[in-house]
Amino acid sequence: MHATPLRYLSSADVLAALPDVEERLSLAERTMLGLGAGAQLPPKIGVQPGPVGSFAHTMPALLPGAAADGSDDLLGMKWVVGFPDNVAAGLPAIHGLTILSDGRTGQPRAIVDAGALTAHRTAAVSGLAIQRWGPRPGSSPRVALIGAGAQARSHLPVVSHLLPDAGVILCDQDAERVKALALELADADSCLGRIASVETTTDISGVARDADLVLTMISFGRRHQAVPAETLADAGLIVAVDYDMCVPAAVARAAALFIVDDREQYLANRTETTFAGYPDDPLTIGEAIRGAVPRPGGAVLVSHLGVGLADVVFADSVLRVAESRGIGTILPR
Ligand SMILES: NC(=O)c1ccc[n+]([C@@H]2O[C@H](COP(=O)([O-])OP(=O)(O)OC[C@H]3O[C@@H](n4cnc5c(N)ncnc54)[C@H](O)[C@@H]3O)[C@@H](O)[C@H]2O)c1
Repeated sequence: MHATPLRYLSSADVLAALPDVEERLSLAERTMLGLGAGAQLPPKIGVQPGPVGSFAHTMPALLPGAAADGSDDLLGMKWVVGFPDNVAAGLPAIHGLTILSDGRTGQPRAIVDAGALTAHRTAAVSGLAIQRWGPRPGSSPRVALIGAGAQARSHLPVVSHLLPDAGVILCDQDAERVKALALELADADSCLGRIASVETTTDISGVARDADLVLTMISFGRRHQAVPAETLADAGLIVAVDYDMCVPAAVARAAALFIVDDREQYLANRTETTFAGYPDDPLTIGEAIRGAVPRPGGAVLVSHLGVGLADVVFADSVLRVAESRGIGTILPR
């Protein structure tokens, strides 16, 4: 048995080795199905850095493979920190690293910048929800996307892939940021995908009105559940990426289906300030896929909090492409 190379993949390396949207959706499905079928995923643990609204979490995960010796297990961990005030200083709000270890020997295989990985694995999980419970392509759906940051940029290729005839309304409290994102979308060379029409607004209180699909991804802060419940009345599907920063508990309680990625983690994160008043008994995405739960008559709310298993599954996929194409930097051991 010999030492495997240890590879570092920067954000640019990750983007160069990222699979296409269809493959990303498959990886998201593999993750969600794995969660109920032998994967190990303790709820995130963390420490509390000083700046208001910041967080620092570790997310270990294991997806067992078929081989008894562990050689096709996916084993790893993400270290992720979020500092919302970074945005004002022109820095990304979220930084992180994912470490992959060999499932048979424990040798480290890779250290992967987790920024782009986090953004794209999260958008792929949202895409899975859109595929299952979202509006049909061809129905010219109205899509409200709230928060024009890193997550919005990774979600737009997924939305445009699944719903190419969507009319998108982008919302951010920061007029410059939302305008900049709309301009990027209009740029023919943009990698954000093609959207039928784009509007912008800074008004979070009205943006969701009349939308068929609402995607929420604003920064963490003190004020939770910020979108008025009555404006979400027509949304067949709401996908909340930002915990409960936007979606009121009344909407979660009234939803025909309330779905999370990982129940244990959701319950561990439900406190007096976060997910206050939310239901006790969500389905998981994996359970709903396995049970082929159809789009119901009423609204569906999918709140996915983000699981380390998705980072490990995506990092493994990116690493395999990087190895085959010689992308990244081999580190000394
Ligand atoms: N579920 C997951 O797996 C997962 C993964 C990564 C990030 N997140 C969460 O997604 C959210 C977005 O992350 P990001 O990296 O895109 O952050 P970001 O800072 O890049 O973008 C967030 C945007 O939200 C805007 N915003 C903040 N408050 C607002 C308000 N009240 N109304 C309108 N706009 C507002 C900010 O101006 C900013 O442009 C965060 O809450 C983050 O914690 C979730």
